[in-house]
Amino acid sequence: MRRAVCPGSFDPITNGHLDIIERASKLYDVVHVAVLINKNKQGLFTVEERIALIEETCARYGNIEVESHHGLLVDFCKERGIPAIIKGLRAVSDFDYELQMAQMNHGLSGVETLFVPTSPTYSFLSSSLVKEVASYGGDVSHLLPATVHSRLVERIAERQAQ
Ligand code: PNS
Repeated sequence: MRRAVCPGSFDPITNGHLDIIERASKLYDVVHVAVLINKNKQGLFTVEERIALIEETCARYGNIEVESHHGLLVDFCKERGIPAIIKGLRAVSDFDYELQMAQMNHGLSGVETLFVPTSPTYSFLSSSLVKEVASYGGDVSHLLPATVHSRLVERIAERQAQ
């Protein structure tokens, strides 16, 4: 089985993430989507909610496994025999940090990182920007799967009512 991992925070999953996961799913037998837990970041969605949204939106690809992980990404890879990390590159601004992480991960464990150029349609897209625009009432429905969009609108309304 040829395995790869698409890691991230996925708070929440966007069409940009789906583009990369779908393309990875065509190249590998199994694609693990790893929701990395960052204790220093308060998410809009819980890790369980993020996993449920990913499972729902990726079910159609047929070869996706979704899990959370607390700790180093290379340990997630080692425990599951995954030799490759797939990352989307949106713009040159992503490159510096992604290169550092790729070199660090390779040095720690020999795991390779493969960069996939993001579709130009999504080159500006990030979960943080989507949350910010949506929180001020901007329309982000074209940037998210419909089910994720409705959960996002609900969650923002709940938070604003508190
Ligand atoms: O969606 P994000 O927040 O841009 O994803 C970043 C992520 C989660 C992929 C990165 O922070 C990560 O790999 N975290 C796991 C902890 C780790 O292995 N850190 C060392 C990286 S060299």
